[in-house]
Amino acid sequence: MRVIVIGAGGHAKVVIDAIERSGDEVVAVIDETARTKSLLGYEVSTRVPSDADGFVIAIGDNAMRMARFEHYLATGLRAVPVVHPSAIVADDVHLGDGTVVFAGVIVNRGTTVGENVILNTGCRIDHDCRIGDHAHIAPGVSLSGGVAVSEGALVGVGACAIPGTSIGSWATVGAGAAVVDPVPDGVTAVGAPARERHAT
Ligand SMILES: CC(C)(COP(=O)(O)OP(=O)(O)OC[C@H]1O[C@@H](n2cnc3c(N)ncnc32)[C@H](O)[C@@H]1OP(=O)(O)O)[C@@H](O)C(=O)NCCC(=O)NCCS
Repeated sequence: MRVIVIGAGGHAKVVIDAIERSGDEVVAVIDETARTKSLLGYEVSTRVPSDADGFVIAIGDNAMRMARFEHYLATGLRAVPVVHPSAIVADDVHLGDGTVVFAGVIVNRGTTVGENVILNTGCRIDHDCRIGDHAHIAPGVSLSGGVAVSEGALVGVGACAIPGTSIGSWATVGAGAAVVDPVPDGVTAVGAPARERHAT
């Protein structure tokens, strides 16, 4: 597949690596801010080519990634998933359009993953989980069976969640947290056990 990468920061490097290693082709790297000129040997431009099979949004921030995803879909382009060849994704797992799955990720049976999601390096998503659109499961996260992560949530690096619990939409789970109770929508929860962190 010929893929357009939208974004030219550190996260885009890892997206490009996954595309190259999976045997697909990066046909353009787009930086709408026009601040970056080249990335990993690719010229970075603001011009969207017409001969691509699809795009992927390589932006870490969930709200910004969702906005750009909707913008490029509205132009008529198709979002494509990117899966690093070292990822182990069970046969019955559905991956939504534009979702990226990085090196060493494991996704087990019965899990569904929405659109424009980041399954970051080495995270493990066990059976029967539900990962909502635009969520980000950071490096090294462990979700046990039946965990629900709603739209736009960020599960921070190295966090974990016990079976059957949930993380609300646009919630943030801090790095290293242990989720043992549901995290409500929009809440930031940190620590082990994870508890809501109130702004000071
Ligand atoms: C939880 C988090 C969102 C808070 O960010 P923030 O609002 O900028 O918070 P601050 O850095 O100002 O810290 C505020 C307080 O929370 C504490 N804190 C921050 N992150 C924490 C965490 N993960 N666990 C426990 N305490 C944490 C700080 O020590 C500080 O405590 P203090 O007030 O006693 O000094 C952030 O620290 C975090 O863990 N983000 C995850 C990032 C990530 O994994 N991204 C994926 C990249 S690929």
